Amino acid sequence: MRKPLIAGNWKLNKNIEESKELAGKLVEELSGKDLAAEAMIIPTFTSLQMAQAMIKDSAVKLGAQDLCQFESGAYTGEISAEMLKEIGVSSVLVGHSERRQIFNEGDDIINAKLKRALEANLQVILCCGESLETREANKADEWVCKQIESALKDNTVALASELVVAYEPIWAIGTGKTCDASEANRIIKVIRTKLADLLGEDLAKHIRILYGGSVKSSTIEEQMAQSDIDGALVGGASLKADEFSKIIAGASLKAAIQ
Ligand code: PGA
Repeated sequence: MRKPLIAGNWKLNKNIEESKELAGKLVEELSGKDLAAEAMIIPTFTSLQMAQAMIKDSAVKLGAQDLCQFESGAYTGEISAEMLKEIGVSSVLVGHSERRQIFNEGDDIINAKLKRALEANLQVILCCGESLETREANKADEWVCKQIESALKDNTVALASELVVAYEPIWAIGTGKTCDASEANRIIKVIRTKLADLLGEDLAKHIRILYGGSVKSSTIEEQMAQSDIDGALVGGASLKADEFSKIIAGASLKAAIQ
């Protein structure tokens, strides 16, 4: 059984004080609730330590938005996997569409970041997803499979056990337009089949695949009712503690009935 995961990507939002408040409120919202879904927050680098201090006595996990593909050395401006681990980060986003599009991260960099993170025993949330143009050209399946294949190229099966995948169609991110739940489930099954080809069926069965793109408390139950959606990567709706905790509660219903 795959434990649902709800991860909140705060992106470039919340300074240290605001992060303290948001993480604190979230812990308060979740306290005393027996929630079966795993919850994670993913603040900016400068807020990670404060967020960690706020969640340390709770079940909420800490993720980072990026890492450097190199271990150490002359790489100005970068943060290493070991530095993230040192402050309690257990998971990292790799291949988010904003990094691919705005910061020109190509397949090779994504492949190297994924490898570095897994080698350092960080869990990776590998993001993939197609643009509207690719979807309209009926090439979405092919596109996401190619993204998965190049990200995992030369990475070993053993390393991939710490892998989570997030399917995030670019046209659904921050737009308020969610992908139809059954269509998201269909493409997530395509991704799972691809993972089985690359890593073997046993491993693919256990890898959690999340949906991301305008997830809200009003959409999560339908999304989680699908056979292969194992949780959500949430952007905008993770910036409000009450809304984010409702999403975690919605995802917990699935775990409770499994
Ligand atoms: P959104 O962002 O929920 O604001 O659409 C999702 C993401 O980019 O991970």
